[in-house]
Amino acid sequence: MITEGLKGRDFITLRDFTKAEIETMLDLSVQLKGEYTMRRRHDDILPGRTLFMMFFNPSLRTRNSFEAGIFQLGGHGHFLQPEATRLPTLEGEDVPYASERIADVARVLSRMGDAIAIRILGAAVNWEYEKSLKIINEFAKYSDKPVINMEDNKYHPCQGMADVMTLRELYGRDLRGRKLAVSWTYSPSTRKPIAPHHDFMYAASYFGADIVFAHPKEMRIDPDVEAAIKANVELNGGSYSVVDNMEAACENADVVYAKNYVCLDLLPPVTKEAQPDEMAKLFNQYKGWIADEKRMKMAKPDGRYMHCLPCERGYEVSDAVLDGKWGNPTAYDEAENRLHVQKGIMACIIP
Ligand code: CP
Repeated sequence: MITEGLKGRDFITLRDFTKAEIETMLDLSVQLKGEYTMRRRHDDILPGRTLFMMFFNPSLRTRNSFEAGIFQLGGHGHFLQPEATRLPTLEGEDVPYASERIADVARVLSRMGDAIAIRILGAAVNWEYEKSLKIINEFAKYSDKPVINMEDNKYHPCQGMADVMTLRELYGRDLRGRKLAVSWTYSPSTRKPIAPHHDFMYAASYFGADIVFAHPKEMRIDPDVEAAIKANVELNGGSYSVVDNMEAACENADVVYAKNYVCLDLLPPVTKEAQPDEMAKLFNQYKGWIADEKRMKMAKPDGRYMHCLPCERGYEVSDAVLDGKWGNPTAYDEAENRLHVQKGIMACIIP
């Protein structure tokens, strides 16, 4: 177990961590889950520590798992909404007495507490794809304490960790020989981020899985992330391939991870502004892309359905799949594991 060098680190993207470091955090998360299940308190791990949680977007799982998690470790979570403080801004975007420069916000919070966690994506940055990560990195530049990414437009590393923890609970530490069908699906929303897909595949690529990714041709992922997934597969074994239909992915799959995400080519920087009407028209061409019983029956007999939630029932996934043997309990284990894995991450990085 490699624990050396984790204290004080930011947790912004999984790509900043070695496989050994990821495994350390996962193993400790499993231990904390066991203790939590047995009602053993572990509030001596981060006693008196403060986690500032800044949410520019709504959340059920992320907010509650972080707040419950830091409390269970002995600390306290402060829930911060930008409109209740002043909008943290980059240089050149200041609005007198309505905003506050991130350099100042980060310096002040890091003097008062022990870590800063940030969620910022989508409409909070006018759908500028690269801006949300830039803002989180700006916090990290000026904070003396660890900064945790609670989801930006590109990465959702805590979700990726919970996903892979769930996969390891199902199949063990080694995912070699396991087929993961990953797919885009239809949704009437044009606001669902691509970050969960990126980090589901990136996290799985550490552990030798065979990833088969299905998407309509217009719904590409970020080529930078795709190159990183391929590099990880090269290093750790397994495979990564892309198909143009859900059936090819679902055939004989152990797991189907299928959900909607935005079309990157209809968002800045590709277009000047987000094009939600064009995106809705494009999505409408692919209304049949849903995780339904027919497709799940193509998977292995004990195949599972995963989704980071929240999901659009009846569009991304049918009730029969989510409530049936495929999705229940797996999708809810995945949600619960957000709590345990974030406790493992915080225990490792918060001094
Ligand atoms: N999966 C996830 O991040 O859920 P929330 O948006 O509810 O936090």
